[in-house]
Amino acid sequence: MRAAPAARPVPAGDAVARLLAWFASEGADLPWRRTRDRYAVLVAEVMLQSTQVARVVPFYEAWLRRWPSAGDLADAALGDVLALWHGLGYPRRARNLRSAARHVVDHGWPDRLTDLPGVGPYTAAAIRCFADGEAVLPVDTNVERILARRFPGGWPGTPDGEGWAAGQALMDLGRLWCTARTPGCGSGCPVREGCPAADAGSVDEVTPRKRPQGRYAGSMRQRRGTLLGRLAETGRVPVAADPDAAAGLVADGLAARDGADLVPAG
Ligand code: ADE
Repeated sequence: MRAAPAARPVPAGDAVARLLAWFASEGADLPWRRTRDRYAVLVAEVMLQSTQVARVVPFYEAWLRRWPSAGDLADAALGDVLALWHGLGYPRRARNLRSAARHVVDHGWPDRLTDLPGVGPYTAAAIRCFADGEAVLPVDTNVERILARRFPGGWPGTPDGEGWAAGQALMDLGRLWCTARTPGCGSGCPVREGCPAADAGSVDEVTPRKRPQGRYAGSMRQRRGTLLGRLAETGRVPVAADPDAAAGLVADGLAARDGADLVPAG
């Protein structure tokens, strides 16, 4: 009896083609995918840092209705910006967005996008990919995980003109199939064929470890969030309600002091 022929190795580039075909037919319809405007993409990507897609959608839509351009946001009061942001967490992101909008209004978009407040290498790459359509991979923890498992030899390259689609497809793959825990290798992952980690049974092993997040309940982050929420609702809160949290908000420019009270930052 002849031995079964060895499985034909699948070139990694085939996986990119399959990923793009899958995204073309199954890609999620998300509001930030209907724009190529740099400002709108920046808003989406900053919101999507540390916050899940479904949660971001209503905030993104409300934000763009209220401040459709960098010029609109640049003129907004910080208290209003933080009030709309409330519920997304990590309010420094909102303050940085307004600072970035002001920079863009005053000086235009910098050549080095990381010169903008709150814009790190990931967000800069995301703007170039999702707004400008460049073949740059925005590598966040999801994409990093996919690369480690599916493309351990490195990203095989983006076909011409597919920069935007390749980046978005990786986002969907990471959210729907190549998830951190219990990935869908056995239940229909569109790039399962030829996946080095799934074939070797080493998916867990090669997955980059995430820094564990501290507990939110009872944390200073929660106390600051509670205080900012009250401020957004009422416009004035006694510092005595939580002096340590209040001091942190003032130090970060997220609120101001007026006598014994905390008031919205200007
Ligand atoms: N996470 C970060 N950027 C994203 C995008 N453009 N679409 C879906 N999820 C994302």
